[in-house]
Amino acid sequence: MATLMGKKIIVVGGSSGIGLGVAEAAVRRGAKVIVVGRSPERLEAAKASLGPRANVETISADMTAEAEIARLFEEVGPFDHLVSTAGSPPPGSPIGETDIAEVRAFVDNKLLGAVLLAKYASRTLNPGGSMTFTSGINKDRPPVPGGAVVSAIAGSFSYFARALALELATMRVNVVSPGWVDTPMFEQLAGDMKPDLFKAMAARLPSGKIATAADIAPAYIHAMESAFTTGQTLNIDGGQSII
Ligand SMILES: NC(=O)c1ccc[n+]([C@@H]2O[C@H](COP(=O)([O-])OP(=O)(O)OC[C@H]3O[C@@H](n4cnc5c(N)ncnc54)[C@H](OP(=O)(O)O)[C@@H]3O)[C@@H](O)[C@H]2O)c1
Repeated sequence: MATLMGKKIIVVGGSSGIGLGVAEAAVRRGAKVIVVGRSPERLEAAKASLGPRANVETISADMTAEAEIARLFEEVGPFDHLVSTAGSPPPGSPIGETDIAEVRAFVDNKLLGAVLLAKYASRTLNPGGSMTFTSGINKDRPPVPGGAVVSAIAGSFSYFARALALELATMRVNVVSPGWVDTPMFEQLAGDMKPDLFKAMAARLPSGKIATAADIAPAYIHAMESAFTTGQTLNIDGGQSII
């Protein structure tokens, strides 16, 4: 099991929610963390929340823009681990009412963004390094109706990681699949319904509670530290996928 002490870790999506939780956990283990997102304000707030002594740098980049991703990896240089939690709220219309422009924007951000990250990360990732992407419980328990697109895209990450783990070996590639997590994105999706939704789900979950970002971060830490974990999807969902 490799330590993260002194390792250079890029966390795309680290300015909020699950990614911020991963950045916090990595900083606590002595890593140098580069937090990436689009909004400079969110990046500044994340840096402040990670503390004044934290070994943290921020870089603003949009993972849908190839030139920005090329610049990001050029600026960072050789590095040890890439984590991406970046994503946008999924489309949720029943299939007969699909807005294709909305679906394209989602696929562009979530899936093609990951492809671009992998393209440039593969060129400068240090030996023994890893990439970890994020899917989610919607692949196993899609909302009905309206969950077909998000389920397909989330599920595709497992196959992306399996193929990439073979292509890029001995670099490692994995996916973390969280259940419901209390983050700004969930807030945005559920609005006023969040407390009731969380209460009802917590009562059904074997874990008995809804996850915080800190509950999910250990799966990403494991994916980075475990030299023997590659091509895997790590479900960390409080048992949501088995109920
Ligand atoms: N929360 C849940 O219950 C849950 C459950 C399962 C799976 N997930 C998945 O986990 C991931 C993280 O979710 P979260 O709840 O942590 O969301 P969040 O709090 O909204 O954080 C999303 C992060 O991604 C960044 N981002 C979005 N688009 C980007 C882009 N094009 N380029 C660079 N950065 C970008 C955002 O910063 P900027 O907006 O400033 O760019 C932000 O830092 C998402 O993909 C989500 O689908 C979430």
